[in-house]
Amino acid sequence: MKILLTGAGGQIGHDLIGSLSAAGHSVTSTDLAPRPPSHAHASGAAWLGLDVTDAAATEALFEKVKPDLVFHLAAILSARGEKDPKLAYDVNQTGTWNVLEACRKAGVSRLIFTSSIAVFGPPPSGPLPDPTPDDVALHPTTMYGVTKVAGELLCAYYTKKFNVDCRGVRFPGLISAAMPGGGSSDYALFMYVDAVRKGGYDAFARNDTRIPLMYMPDGVRALLELAMADRERLTRSIYNIAAFSPRADEIAASVQRAIPEAKFTYSPDPRRQSILDSWPKSLDDSAARRDWGWKPKYDLDAMTDDLVPRVRRMLELGAILSTH
Ligand code: SER
Repeated sequence: MKILLTGAGGQIGHDLIGSLSAAGHSVTSTDLAPRPPSHAHASGAAWLGLDVTDAAATEALFEKVKPDLVFHLAAILSARGEKDPKLAYDVNQTGTWNVLEACRKAGVSRLIFTSSIAVFGPPPSGPLPDPTPDDVALHPTTMYGVTKVAGELLCAYYTKKFNVDCRGVRFPGLISAAMPGGGSSDYALFMYVDAVRKGGYDAFARNDTRIPLMYMPDGVRALLELAMADRERLTRSIYNIAAFSPRADEIAASVQRAIPEAKFTYSPDPRRQSILDSWPKSLDDSAARRDWGWKPKYDLDAMTDDLVPRVRRMLELGAILSTH
């Protein structure tokens, strides 16, 4: 299959390109930035510059590549988006519109949209239900969340109106052996990275912070399974998916199983903490389980066992790359 990725240089692209190439697909990776050194493993896949805020360039590229399937990953995440809401609006809102229009005009039949737990926020009537189901009133508190809600609605609209089969998942915070960029859930990954490289981490979140998290191999598999699911089986456009929802200090305890000397402290950053506190504590993903057989493989400790050696290799490789 001919597959195109936007935002391929990010944390999801890093793992998704590898899985798609390994499955024998022809992959065109696009990003504003050149291929990062961390993506050298995907050097077989084409890498093209693309700014999704540029409608004409997006349309021309989609027309030229004519992909069968698009994974739209380009986005400014929640914490960075609060520093520059206009940039988040341009990339996430206008960019998604441009990608949908480019799909429509180039006759792309299927588009995968990556939404997020950031679409949720506390309703005026009280806290979010725990677990939070797919269909609750959406009250996002960040520009990132606002644009993801709009993207979800556009996705359903284009499916119905223009037959661009757009479907997506609401990702929990994703954890992998790749540096994240500008997310509020990044504390969880830094508990691993800094435990390996510095022997501990001073988290920007409270010790009792609890949000839905997922290990990237499960996240990538969810994208692939949803992308390949029969349309007839899908009862909705966008699905909650869940894996585990530990408190920050439970992540610390899991890391300490692998690195007993690691020390963790908590110095909550008010801005990022308030974003984290606005998100669900856990998600109800029963519709995804029912419609397309979604099931996570990794729990917290299984992730820790797999991730710690990978983080070690990533840091060694980074050190090698930076000295050459
Ligand atoms: N991980 C993202 C963030 O923190 C949420 O989708 O912004």
